Amino acid sequence: MITGNTRLFAIIADPIAQVRTPQVLNAYFQSQDLDAVLVPVHVPAEGLAEVIAGFRRMKNLGGFIVTVPHKIQVAALCDELGPAARATGSVNTVRREADGRLAGDMFDGAGFVQGLRTQGHDPAGKRLLLLGAGGAAGAIAFSLVEAGAARLVIANRTLAKAQAIVQRLRQAFPHADVRAGTADPRECDMVVNATTLGMRAEDPLPLDAELLRPETVVAEIIMKPELTPLLAEAHKRGCPIHYGRHMLDEQVRLMARFML
Ligand SMILES: NC(=O)c1ccc[n+]([C@@H]2O[C@H](COP(=O)([O-])OP(=O)(O)OC[C@H]3O[C@@H](n4cnc5c(N)ncnc54)[C@H](OP(=O)(O)O)[C@@H]3O)[C@@H](O)[C@H]2O)c1
Repeated sequence: MITGNTRLFAIIADPIAQVRTPQVLNAYFQSQDLDAVLVPVHVPAEGLAEVIAGFRRMKNLGGFIVTVPHKIQVAALCDELGPAARATGSVNTVRREADGRLAGDMFDGAGFVQGLRTQGHDPAGKRLLLLGAGGAAGAIAFSLVEAGAARLVIANRTLAKAQAIVQRLRQAFPHADVRAGTADPRECDMVVNATTLGMRAEDPLPLDAELLRPETVVAEIIMKPELTPLLAEAHKRGCPIHYGRHMLDEQVRLMARFML
């Protein structure tokens, strides 16, 4: 039941209809017996600054989730940024303080790493291959290095984007072994697919599955389909596989804790 006491949370996106965060976070609020509700707010890029200014004035707003295409622009509108937000230049969660100040952070990477740990795949000390260099990949790269990866190779169709992430990582972690490279999984312990390849049935695989060794963990961040063609190929070859949903499940907890 929504009452005058209920704390309000939002998710902003454009388009908005596809977002799953309202279902997941409202179920979480209910499971924790919290008097809180999260609603979708459809915000086009040209209205973003006004909506954020309005959010600052809403005294019962606890915070909001940010997704495509606003993650970078909202980072610039926050008053404070956490370490992952500073390193990636983007936010996906904002807490509204009592005085209207906005504190933002990025939990894509932390959620992914926490998801790996809960499934028994701690990345600490591992040689990792990250496929992709988009928004999610940048956040995941930061958190994998922060979690103590022994080596991180980033492979992307557009090499310059992989190189840009490597440069930012070297600033944040000067001693880390990070480099841009090719999608060759032969000398790594874990492969992470952070490209969009696998969302559509006609997509090619993001790497040559023949090169996978059975001891290599193959992780996805795509949630639909759950068993992507890459995971199916990896499973066929005896590799442990890790589903995309674990990232969102853990992120929800981290985002809620940050905003509450
Ligand atoms: N599980 C979760 O909680 C969660 C959270 C966030 C995102 N995601 C998923 O993560 C995926 C990536 O999201 P994003 O926001 O990072 O997207 P993005 O910023 O658009 O990045 C897309 C990435 O995929 C690559 N790519 C796209 N088409 C390609 C093709 N035909 N061949 C080779 N590479 C291709 C891009 O390469 P270029 O740089 O060369 O274009 C880029 O590296 C999506 O599937 C999204 O749904 C999951």
